[in-house]
Amino acid sequence: MAKPDGSLAHANKFLDAGSQCAQWYREAKRFIPGGTSKTNLHMRPHPLYLRGGAGCWATDLEGVERLDCINNFTALIHGHAFPPVVQAVTEQLSRGTNFAFSTPEELRLAKLLVERIPGLDLVRFFNSGTEAVMMAIKAARAFTGRDRIVKIEGAYHGYYDDIQVSFNSTPPHWGPDDAPASTASSGGIPKHRVQETLVLPWNNPEAAERLITRHKNELAAVIVDPLANRMGFIPPAPGYLERLRQVTRAHGILVIFDEVISLRVGYGGAQERYGGDPDLTTMGKIMGGGFPVGATGGKAEVMAVFDPGTKGPRVLAGGTFSANPVTMTAGLAAMQAMDRAAFARLEDMGSRLRARLNALFRGSGQPGQVTGDGSLFRFVPVSRPLVNYRDTLEAGAVERANRLFMALLDAGIIINDNGLACLSTPMGEAELNRIEEDVAQALAVLAKG
Ligand SMILES: Cc1ncc(COP(=O)(O)O)c(C=O)c1O
Repeated sequence: MAKPDGSLAHANKFLDAGSQCAQWYREAKRFIPGGTSKTNLHMRPHPLYLRGGAGCWATDLEGVERLDCINNFTALIHGHAFPPVVQAVTEQLSRGTNFAFSTPEELRLAKLLVERIPGLDLVRFFNSGTEAVMMAIKAARAFTGRDRIVKIEGAYHGYYDDIQVSFNSTPPHWGPDDAPASTASSGGIPKHRVQETLVLPWNNPEAAERLITRHKNELAAVIVDPLANRMGFIPPAPGYLERLRQVTRAHGILVIFDEVISLRVGYGGAQERYGGDPDLTTMGKIMGGGFPVGATGGKAEVMAVFDPGTKGPRVLAGGTFSANPVTMTAGLAAMQAMDRAAFARLEDMGSRLRARLNALFRGSGQPGQVTGDGSLFRFVPVSRPLVNYRDTLEAGAVERANRLFMALLDAGIIINDNGLACLSTPMGEAELNRIEEDVAQALAVLAKG
C-alpha cells in the first residue's frame, strides 16, 4: 500500500533470500513438486506463502499484511474467516463432518440455488468446479447420445481432459482466427481427447453457426463461460448467446454455462444478466463458503440422467465427500448473506473501481485496461478493444501483467499474476481508495521500466 508520503510500502520482504518464505520453499520443495500443490502459484524466486487472513486482509509468513484482492481465485466473496460461516461450520463440526447418507444441509443449499438461478430446475453437488464441468459434459453426452463438445478459445473450465483444450493457445499453434485449432493446454492429455473437443472464437456467431452445423450429428454440447476470466472477462456481444442458443436448439445440442466464477456477477448468476437459456449450468467457488465445492444443475429433463430411478441413459455420480454437510453449511451461510442488496453494493463498488482504474491507465501512457462485471475485475495488459481471446495477447503483454502483479504485491495488494482480481464484502470506500492509489503507484513504477 502507499505510505502517507506517497511512496510504495515495499511489502515484498518475502523475496529476500533469508525470508521465511525462502526457507519454507526450500523445505517444501523436498516434499511437494515446485513447493506448492497449485501450478498457478509458482513464481520466481519462490512462491508467497501465507500465515492467515481476516476479512479482506491476508498476512504472509514475514508478517506483512496485504489487501487480498484475489480471495482464493475469487472463491471467498466475504473474504477470510467470515463470522457467519465460522459459526455455522463450528456448529456443524460438532455434529459430524461427513456421512454415507444425505443431510438436511444439502437440500437447503440446493433450494437456495434453484430459487435464484434461472436455468436450474434441479442441482447435484460435487467437490470442485472441475468435477462439476466433467459431470455436466457426461450428462450432456448421456442425454444426447453424442460424444463431441465445443468450447471457446481462451476459456478455462478446470483440468478435466476434454476441456483442458485451447485455453492458453499461442500464435504458432492456434490456427485461423475464425476456426481455432484444438491444442492441448497441459501435458498428459491423450491426443484423441484433444481432437474430440472443437474450438470456437468468442463473439463470432457466423463461425459458431458454421462449425456447429458441420458437426451437428456428433455434438453433445457447447460449453460457454458467459464472462470468461482467462479470456479477459470480455462480455458476450449483443445477440451472440441467443444465436448460439438458436443453432444448438435446432440440432438438439445442449448449451452448458460454466458459472464457476461468474456466479459472482449477481444474485441469479451471469445468466440472469446476459440471458442465454442454458440447459446445464456448472457452479463452484463462492457457493462453497470457502470449502471445496462444485455443482451441476439444469433443466429437469437433462438432470434426470443423474436420477438413479430413471430408465435409459444414466450417469453414475457418487463422490465420498460430495454434498458433505460442512461445505453445504458454509455455502448456505455465505450465499444467504449475499442477498440482492449485497450483490448490488459490490457491483456498484466494482463498476466505480473499474472506471477509476481505467482512467489511471489512460493517463499513465501504459498499455492496459480493466475489464470485469460485478465484483470481478481484471487487468488486461493491452489497450485495444477486446472482442475475443486473441485480442488480449500481444508481444510483451504477459511480462507487463507479471510486472504489474509484482509491483502491486510490493505496494501491498494481492491480485493474480495474470491480472485477475475481485472485491469482497468486508471492503468499502477506504479499500477502493487504497487500490486506486496503489495501482497509480504501480503504474508509475512500470513507466520507469
Ligand atoms: C470458469 C471455471 N470453470 C471451472 C473451474 C475449475 O474449478 P476448480 O478450480 O474448483 O476445479 C474454474 C477455476 O478457476 C473456472 O474459473
